[in-house]
Amino acid sequence: MQQLSDLNCKGKRVLIRADLNVPLNEKLEITDDNRIKEFLPTLQAVLSQGARATVMSHLGEPSGIDPALSLRPVAKRLSELLGTDVILAPDCVGAEVTKLAADLKDGQVLLLENLRFQPGEKRNDSEFASQLAKLGDVFISDAFATAHRSHASMVGVPKLFKEKAAGLLMQKEMDYYTKALENPRKPLCVVIGGSKVSSKLNALVNLSSKADKLIIGGAMANTFLAAQGLQMGRSLYEPDLAGKALELLGTLARRDCKVYLPVDVVVAPALSSKGLGRAVPVQEIPADTMALDIGPATSLLYKEALHSAETIVWNGPMGAYENEEFARGTHDMCEAIANAHGLTVVGGGDTDAAIHHMQLAHKFSFISTAGGAFLALLEGNSLPGIKALE
Ligand code: 3PG
Repeated sequence: MQQLSDLNCKGKRVLIRADLNVPLNEKLEITDDNRIKEFLPTLQAVLSQGARATVMSHLGEPSGIDPALSLRPVAKRLSELLGTDVILAPDCVGAEVTKLAADLKDGQVLLLENLRFQPGEKRNDSEFASQLAKLGDVFISDAFATAHRSHASMVGVPKLFKEKAAGLLMQKEMDYYTKALENPRKPLCVVIGGSKVSSKLNALVNLSSKADKLIIGGAMANTFLAAQGLQMGRSLYEPDLAGKALELLGTLARRDCKVYLPVDVVVAPALSSKGLGRAVPVQEIPADTMALDIGPATSLLYKEALHSAETIVWNGPMGAYENEEFARGTHDMCEAIANAHGLTVVGGGDTDAAIHHMQLAHKFSFISTAGGAFLALLEGNSLPGIKALE
């Protein structure tokens, strides 16, 4: 795969696919501009070569044109961070857009309107891809967070370019993935949380052959505990997956991958309960309560298990951390991983949000900008948006 430094962009029209899919509030203000900031080095590198840049991205899940999902706020923020005007196109294809891209001068930036306003994007329509491809002489993909999608701008467009490369963010994401999971310094310890085993079962199976230790938290741990015969009260768990969970525990034992499950949990009658949370051993969960966080003994155990790790990969919170009362376990893990001496790599929106909330982001080796794409790599899948650059 070619890198940005392999391309000569001087005087060329460079078409860049970025992931500028940022969260907006009801007033259409950006609540987290991290993805825009992480894209800046690639854009600045292209512009400093004396190129003209046409940038494209999706935002949210529109079905057709939706003014609430316009990239206008993104154009404004990108322009502020770049310190130069960013022209927002009225659409992503069509005569007016073609003219705007053709009229760009060296050093200028055009941002296309939301790619998903057009049905051809998600369908990977070849006609749509060829209209987009006409907007550039060379192609750069920096949209790691969308690399698991076989959409037109990720797969159809790069296939139409001879000169194409990964952007700096894409490269950085892949480098850390390689260091953390393909070629890690051992022991490799993977911390997996979140609500459902079903959404991470394939990742757990894949990780069983890579990790030395697997630490499981969040409601997904409930499914493993229930499968072992523990009474989980009103806790969220997936009874249908009991067989799969036991099978996985057997596989992990055969592969000498040590598994850590909660020994105590914080329970309460409901997620909305105030002041009623209390820690109990997993053997003593009252029938009228639900497990909403890992308990203090579990935090200690997990910290101890992390101690020897040379590489730690973390995806998913340890409990219902949005409610302060059930955030302790996630905070404890965050602190333990932040203070670990080895390489620490994190992925997933919830995990990222918890780390930022604790203001510990600067203490991690790398925080991925991706959610779904990061999970796809944990599952051992190759990413179509990266294959298309090869
Ligand atoms: C993300 O936020 O994970 C990426 O931007 C991909 O978005 P999607 O899940 O809507 O395809």
